[in-house]
Amino acid sequence: MSQAHHKPFFARIWPASLANLVFAGLLAVISFSDVLIAPYGEWVVGQPAPRTYRAPATHPSIESEIERAYPAPRRIIVRRGQTINEADLEDLGRLVPERKQFDPRLGGGVLIFFFLALTFFNLVLRRYRRLLLLRLRSVVSMYLALALSLLAARLLLDYTSLSMFAAPIFICAILFTPLIGQNMAFILHLLAVALMAPMIGINRGMVLIPLVSGWIAILLLGRKSGPMRMLLAAFCGSAIGELFLAGLSLFTPLGLDLSIKIGGDVVGLAGGVMASGLAAGILSYPVAFMFGHISPSRLRKLLVLDHPLLKDLAEKAPGTFQHSLAVANMAEKIADDIGADSDLVRAGAYFHDIGKIQLPTYFIENQQGENPHDKIPPLESASKLRSHTEAGVTIARGANVPERIIDFIIEHHGRSTMEYFMDKAYKTDGKVPAVSDYSYNGRNPTSRETAILMIVDSMEAASRTLKEPAQAEIENLVRRILFFKLLHGYLDDSGLTTGDLKQIGISLVKFLQAQFHVRVVYPWQKQENQRPPLQVMTDTHAGAWADGSARVAQPVEQPAAPVAAAPATAAPDERSRSKSE
Ligand SMILES: [Fe+2]
Ligand SMILES: [Fe+2]
Repeated sequence: MSQAHHKPFFARIWPASLANLVFAGLLAVISFSDVLIAPYGEWVVGQPAPRTYRAPATHPSIESEIERAYPAPRRIIVRRGQTINEADLEDLGRLVPERKQFDPRLGGGVLIFFFLALTFFNLVLRRYRRLLLLRLRSVVSMYLALALSLLAARLLLDYTSLSMFAAPIFICAILFTPLIGQNMAFILHLLAVALMAPMIGINRGMVLIPLVSGWIAILLLGRKSGPMRMLLAAFCGSAIGELFLAGLSLFTPLGLDLSIKIGGDVVGLAGGVMASGLAAGILSYPVAFMFGHISPSRLRKLLVLDHPLLKDLAEKAPGTFQHSLAVANMAEKIADDIGADSDLVRAGAYFHDIGKIQLPTYFIENQQGENPHDKIPPLESASKLRSHTEAGVTIARGANVPERIIDFIIEHHGRSTMEYFMDKAYKTDGKVPAVSDYSYNGRNPTSRETAILMIVDSMEAASRTLKEPAQAEIENLVRRILFFKLLHGYLDDSGLTTGDLKQIGISLVKFLQAQFHVRVVYPWQKQENQRPPLQVMTDTHAGAWADGSARVAQPVEQPAAPVAAAPATAAPDERSRSKSE
């Protein structure tokens, strides 16, 4: 991970570009399979046609202006199985000359178009959803679904007389929205429609109507959508698509003529979207598995606390076990409040510090009196602390804990620095230590769930230092921890929105108030206490900001200042250590 960031841009993207080029080639082969297998240049008069051929609507040689203006290319020249005559071949030559035999130039053009479309999608992923790129199998499953829907469309065009609107372009949109979120799904659907374009012809109807239907379906789907919800979304998407089709038809000189002209398309569009919804519903579980999601039954087993690893943890590191339970309670509540996967967060919290089994006494929560860090140099202390995430990953993998849970182990400290030991090194050696020697070597949170755990983990440890805190103290602590994580960029890849962060702040304050039985101060009481509860998230001029910005501006030059200024904001382990000294 750390090296990846230092490589030049090209070195980082060439493997993905090569994969995209190969995939673009595969899609181009699917797109051109009709001309590659049996171009009509080889057809024999008097024999049945091996496939159906349609005229593109925008084709200049289509006779009437009216026909050309129609939203969809629906004019079938030859049906599959129909006996071919001279006139058919002539029509084909006049209306689809490019399909007479394979034209390498055309093929090359489509290949480049596909490659660029895929590269665009990759760059968007890299920018907004790096997590998906890190887990190769989620990208592979999206690509697989794209290739399959393209193949299904090809077969439908070649072997049936159905409307082109029946092509299952919508599968990716409906299938992946719950997994990648609406924003990425919009882009994915745009990609699906673009990839379909060379096959069905670029025409306003064929581009706009599938886009609208798909986007409506995406809008109606959420993070926790099941198969029934997918079908319902498909139904609404097709209904709006039909309205759009009718609207576009009214634009044409032909007008709305359901009986002859667009009847087939109305049925085709409804059938295509609904079939996509059905297929997505059926495929949703296997694809969720491909994405590394944990099945509900497996997750339930991880939640009952009788996992051998957790029993081991309770025995060897009872303090850490208690800490994990406390973190789980708080993090589950927060996840619920922002609509994240609360069961997953709870399970992740149980296992996040499992690596502390190895050296339990190096962590304050398991110490009774003696602190081994007093006898070793700070550099060694840092490496002991750092080892708990690496050891955790090894231990969890050995016990066959799902990868999605292991993410919580890798990401709960991210790449944060152990400032207490950095400060100690600075004080003993008199020179500024290298940040990399005192950083965790995990990965910053790449999901909302792991980000919640990172925040709550710091929060839980820090809140243990509070004794009968006033409301202002709790608010200050929450403010400091949230700003600290934000300003250091630890939450950059997490997908948490500003709305989520606001809610997390409010929920944390409420949770701690309840825990410490703090009397809530209402706004009308604020003459007594100058800071009303909501000011936690709105008052950016508060002290925490000043501390935080100082740390960001000069993290290396002034390692001592931050710890002294804001002990509560240091990561839990080293903060606890500072108390024990
Ligand atoms: Fe930890
Ligand atoms: Fe922890």
